[in-house]
Amino acid sequence: MAQRETFGSRFSIIMAMAGSAIGLGNIWRFPYTVGEGGGAAFIIVYLVSTLLLTMPVFMAESIIGRTAQAGTFGAMQKLAPGSKWKWMGFLTVITPLIIVSYYSVVGGWSFGYLLKALTFSFNADAVDSIGGMFSRFTTSAWTPIVCHTVFLGSTCLIVLRGVKKGIEKFASITMPLLFVLILIIMVYSISLPGASAGLEYMLKPDFSKLDGKTIASAMGQSFFTLSLGTGSILTYASYVKKDENILISGLGTAGFDLLFAMIAGFAVMPAVFAAGIEPGAGPGLVFETLPYIFAKMGADAPWLSAAISILFFASILFAALTSSISMIEVGVAYLVEEKKMTRGRSVLLLFLGCWALGVICSLSFGPLAGISLLGKTIFEFCDSLTSDYLMAFGGLLFILFAGWKMSKATVREELTCFGKSKLNVALFPLLYFLIRYVAPFGIIAIFITNLIW
Ligand code: ALA
Repeated sequence: MAQRETFGSRFSIIMAMAGSAIGLGNIWRFPYTVGEGGGAAFIIVYLVSTLLLTMPVFMAESIIGRTAQAGTFGAMQKLAPGSKWKWMGFLTVITPLIIVSYYSVVGGWSFGYLLKALTFSFNADAVDSIGGMFSRFTTSAWTPIVCHTVFLGSTCLIVLRGVKKGIEKFASITMPLLFVLILIIMVYSISLPGASAGLEYMLKPDFSKLDGKTIASAMGQSFFTLSLGTGSILTYASYVKKDENILISGLGTAGFDLLFAMIAGFAVMPAVFAAGIEPGAGPGLVFETLPYIFAKMGADAPWLSAAISILFFASILFAALTSSISMIEVGVAYLVEEKKMTRGRSVLLLFLGCWALGVICSLSFGPLAGISLLGKTIFEFCDSLTSDYLMAFGGLLFILFAGWKMSKATVREELTCFGKSKLNVALFPLLYFLIRYVAPFGIIAIFITNLIW
């Protein structure tokens, strides 16, 4: 049997996992869910969920993936052959594919905005007309669909080139660039007149705004941003060498991810208040706010604004690509390893399925806006179904598997580097308690609270 590919170094593992985690979830989704959730109190719930609920799920996925050395479906067959756990494999193949479909629509918006940046559309003269730009763009039927096709096509081409070459190269080039750019945008945004109300919104918690729905949405955001419950992290972990400390690489990945999200929040929210945009404006928030920032910047320093807007939309596009390739990769691993399909055929099949669902999601901002499922547009329904329910449910199953189905000895070996890491050995009782009790019961409690509150 051919040797399974592995990642070269810890840096490349963290960069590849951070590449999967950091994406539109941090820059597009985090600011708008904070806006819908009421600001600082939402952020606190998000931080607590990350620490107590999603980090343990991250560890569980890493443990399962590396022990099994296989993708989601194969892992279940190897570690629990002939059992009902195989259905978990199906769930975690389906969830990322639904996500890729609407994620690619937002990736397409980023591509469309890159083209706008390249044609200097966010210039100082555009400040007053910029408000309607997002709705004009998304309600036109064809342009967003063409952009979605370009984004999904690029994702699939990268996946065709294989794990190491395609993924590692992209992740390590674009991440640092994106980081520097959002930092610059954040500093500029905070300096805008009227921005202090946005800072207050991000820093001063008002717990009266919290209810079951916002708590579930904060947990959902934490699952979404870390790509959990979808098998992406599990699949990456299956490529991690046996002597790597998965606790450290997990914390490194989550740390980078959190930093990006917070900086994006502090870049967007001050400008939202400065521009008088409604913080709860929903999925369009970032695409309404950033052009405003660039147009304002254009009045002071036109060339700087043009350069930053071009580089920003280019690098957010790459960050989105590294996330979408990790999600498509789960489906490809399933079709190649379990259905014995060629990589080429698998990629083509997934492209067609995700493209079709993506087109429907894209049209739900325009011609199909009138169709609603449980009070949401098709796009909103797919987003909420996956992040608030399917990812958290998938994560719950992973953590129950690691905590209750796998032997404690195996979990200990994986988490402590076979007893070689003294720190991990000392932390193991706490980590195991989180995996076995705190996270599963916490996730179930939030599900129930969401239903009855
Ligand atoms: N975790 C991915 C992101 O944040 C899905 O974009």
